[in-house]
Amino acid sequence: GTVVLAYSGGLDTSCILVWLKEEGYDVITFLANIGQEEDFDAAKKKAESLGAKKVFIEDLRAEFVEEFIWPSVQASAIYEDRYLLGTSVARPCIARRQIQIARQEGAQYVSHGATGKGNDQIRFELTCYALYPEVKIIAPWRIPEFYNRFVGRKDLMEYAKKHGIPVPVTPKAPWSMDANLMHISHAPADLYLMTKSPEDAPNSPDVLEIEFKKGVCLSVYISSSHVVGLFSPLVQLGFMIQRRHGVGRIDIVENRFIGMKSRGIYETPGGTILYHAHLDIETFTLDREVRRIKQGLGVKFAEMLYNGFWYSPECEFVRHCIDKSQESVDGKVQLSVFKGQVYILGRESPKSLYNEELVSMDVQGDYDPCDASGFIKINAVRLREHHRLQGEHRSK
Ligand code: ARG
Ligand code: SIN
Repeated sequence: GTVVLAYSGGLDTSCILVWLKEEGYDVITFLANIGQEEDFDAAKKKAESLGAKKVFIEDLRAEFVEEFIWPSVQASAIYEDRYLLGTSVARPCIARRQIQIARQEGAQYVSHGATGKGNDQIRFELTCYALYPEVKIIAPWRIPEFYNRFVGRKDLMEYAKKHGIPVPVTPKAPWSMDANLMHISHAPADLYLMTKSPEDAPNSPDVLEIEFKKGVCLSVYISSSHVVGLFSPLVQLGFMIQRRHGVGRIDIVENRFIGMKSRGIYETPGGTILYHAHLDIETFTLDREVRRIKQGLGVKFAEMLYNGFWYSPECEFVRHCIDKSQESVDGKVQLSVFKGQVYILGRESPKSLYNEELVSMDVQGDYDPCDASGFIKINAVRLREHHRLQGEHRSK
């Protein structure tokens, strides 16, 4: 049979490539460009030299931003109150293309190098099953003949040497790293790559203006120069501003879907700025009750995204609702980034629901203060009764 392998060019997936060949498969490799720094040409050559029948290097940056990152920004998706889901959101995007290639090439099998303990295996495979129900999945790190043979890195290195797989000279860090346009995930903390430490950041802020249309970032003005392009707002945010200012670093312990807690160290510079800016313009333009419901849906959405359920009926439903909620989320937010922080400075919107006259102390407007007495008294009915009864019960 033919298998489409999600190939990174690293030691693990190179060994998996050769092992799959040994097991009798024709191997097609697939490497997605989602904005990580990578020598794609070198990876292509490596896969070919290791006997891949075909090699796909796919530039998914535009669809990653438009179809996956923007919905997450609209949803204010955040997992366990802190993680902006930079790894999670890339998985359905990558697996979707892998499945497209499998179908196009008539491959029955797909394979990946995710571990048997993590979230990624779930995310990849749920997407694969959803989009290609008959697919067969080969997850070597869950196959005893594979993981008993490759117990440590030493075994992988030996196997690599034996099979002419180029072995990296620098010893690999004992943690996995994952990078894309939106974020970088790694450990330990002294290894921050995308951002400068806030202590070393400039002593004066950068002032930005971010423009939103239907909750999506349209453009960014940095110190009045206009940045446009398909995904350049995020790229620019990610690469210029916060690299300098150290925005978006977190060090957390999170709950994996599988039931373990794991430590995560993430840098999400552009995503963090957008999160705050979007929240601001949204509160400015969204009805209070719609906002409340939408906030709850955002929490649900974040869980689905984290757990790998992007292509589920419930997630489609929630994405639809969130998209609908963003119809009026237009406008501009001014903010400054400084020493690891984002400070909102102001906002403007043609869809603003803020009525200065209505809240003003000086102008009466279409509002009668007398009505508030009744409003408060009616709301007090329950409270008075509650405390009256408590007093009664105490005296018994
Ligand atoms: N724990 C995070 C998540 O599940 C990030 C994992 C990143 N590392 C990786 N090798 N995939 O989304
Ligand atoms: C994975 O999800 O497979 C990696 C584990 C993690 O870093 O959470």
